[in-house]
Amino acid sequence: MIKKGIILLGGKGKRLKPLTNYLSKHLLPVYNKPMFYYSLSTLIYANIKEILIICNEKDLQIYKKILIPISKKHNIKFLFEIQKNPAGGVAECLKIGSQFIKSCKRFVLILGDNFFFGREFPKILMKAINKKKSFVFLSSVKNPKNFGIAKFNKKNKLIKIIEKPTSITSNLAVTGLYVYNSKSISHLKSIKRSKRGELEITSFNNALIKKNSLDYINLGFGITWFDLGTFSNLYECSEFVRLQENRKGIQISKLI
Ligand code: G1P
Repeated sequence: MIKKGIILLGGKGKRLKPLTNYLSKHLLPVYNKPMFYYSLSTLIYANIKEILIICNEKDLQIYKKILIPISKKHNIKFLFEIQKNPAGGVAECLKIGSQFIKSCKRFVLILGDNFFFGREFPKILMKAINKKKSFVFLSSVKNPKNFGIAKFNKKNKLIKIIEKPTSITSNLAVTGLYVYNSKSISHLKSIKRSKRGELEITSFNNALIKKNSLDYINLGFGITWFDLGTFSNLYECSEFVRLQENRKGIQISKLI
């Protein structure tokens, strides 16, 4: 298998309480579909046929059940792993998925609360998958303090990613979509837990920047990105999907 996908459906959904007290964040509705349909369809548009789902133990059975018809319709093999500590961090999931990753050359990691939309988007993603380096995808934001933010040198080379910066170096956020060369996971060994107790994906990406093996693609204005971790974003994205579908008569991420 040349390329595989990993989708993260764990975490605590702290910013969406009380909705997430009993329900996995990624099952919350975004207009007319469960949230994770949108990130899953990103992997499906990239023609990925083997996908590892990483979720909390309590949600495992429901995801297995929901994915049966999707697996049949799109001819996708789903595998499942549990993240025991929901606050373990995104990079911890790469450790959890290391066996799965070993047998492919390239893999795409996507956070289940990320939403991407744009005509050119599948092409851009495929282009990154077909290269050798690893890639992050950047999008401009008005609130950089809430994200991992890219820092560049004068030649526009990515020199560092700063997680939730206290002072602003740019307004380009690193989105929750990553294309990795599978060999890069050997650098996981060098990273340590952050102050918030997580193995941060930003620490892993910074280790790759040091080895000159991480590049970036700026998604620009043509591609819409939402991180759906807050009430406002959930609401705005639902309205965005409703507008697109009702005005254009299209269906976004309709998997079944
Ligand atoms: C995570 C990453 C952050 C990235 C964001 C995108 O943040 O750590 O670098 O910008 O996802 O959705 P978190 O949602 O864990 O705060």
